[in-house]
Amino acid sequence: MKIRIGIIGGSGLENAIEGERVLVNTPYGDVLVKVGVMVNEKVAFIPRHGERHETPPHKVNYRGNLWALKTLGVERVIATNAVGGIRDGLNPGDLLIPHDFIDFTKGRTYTFYDQKAVHVDLTTPYCPEIRRIIIEVAEEMGIKIWDGGVYVCTEGPRFETPSEIRMFRLLGADVVGMTGVPEVILARELKMCYATICVITNYAAGMQKRISHEEVNEIMRGKTRVIVEIMNKVVQRIPVERKNCMCGL
Ligand code: HPA
Repeated sequence: MKIRIGIIGGSGLENAIEGERVLVNTPYGDVLVKVGVMVNEKVAFIPRHGERHETPPHKVNYRGNLWALKTLGVERVIATNAVGGIRDGLNPGDLLIPHDFIDFTKGRTYTFYDQKAVHVDLTTPYCPEIRRIIIEVAEEMGIKIWDGGVYVCTEGPRFETPSEIRMFRLLGADVVGMTGVPEVILARELKMCYATICVITNYAAGMQKRISHEEVNEIMRGKTRVIVEIMNKVVQRIPVERKNCMCGL
């Protein structure tokens, strides 16, 4: 059976989905995927940082992860990311579904196409259909969710400086994280739909006294259950045919 839906779980979701462990062979190395069932749908789950959160953002095998999902037949990817809130009004614990991103990473591998000039269109980087379904589901569940926002991705693994955050705010960024890029780009190169649920775990640098990894993890842990509940419903609602987006064209 083909697996249509892939989930890339960020911090806190490492063990959110149980399933059979499958090692998928890719040109970028072997990738551990957990194949599980969500309600009535088979899903392929990848904990982005490894099962024990051992891989930092700049060392994640982004190409391997996306390639492995594609190999299993996945056409639609739902991800999660921990982020800092930049825009006023965004508070720790809030969920936000970004519609666009700005890339401030520095040294990652951004493409599958090293031998050929391929320029993917990112006018609509995140799948509008999956975004809409996530937002609909959350609203029906009575969960507050922000529809749209600009995700700025930094190289990490350090947090930002207050001046960097001021710059990002001027540039129009709403949230800041370390793992959204190049994942979203690579999904598009493989013609997969991709959307992500951002969990705001802290106010960005300079907007609160200090930021700690422990604080980020604690907020994420507190949100794991609700995210899995949202995902369960989203997975059931994603249509088989991709008619309402251009991600696969
Ligand atoms: N900056 C970058 N990445 C993050 C943050 C942050 O403030 N919070 C959670 N992930």
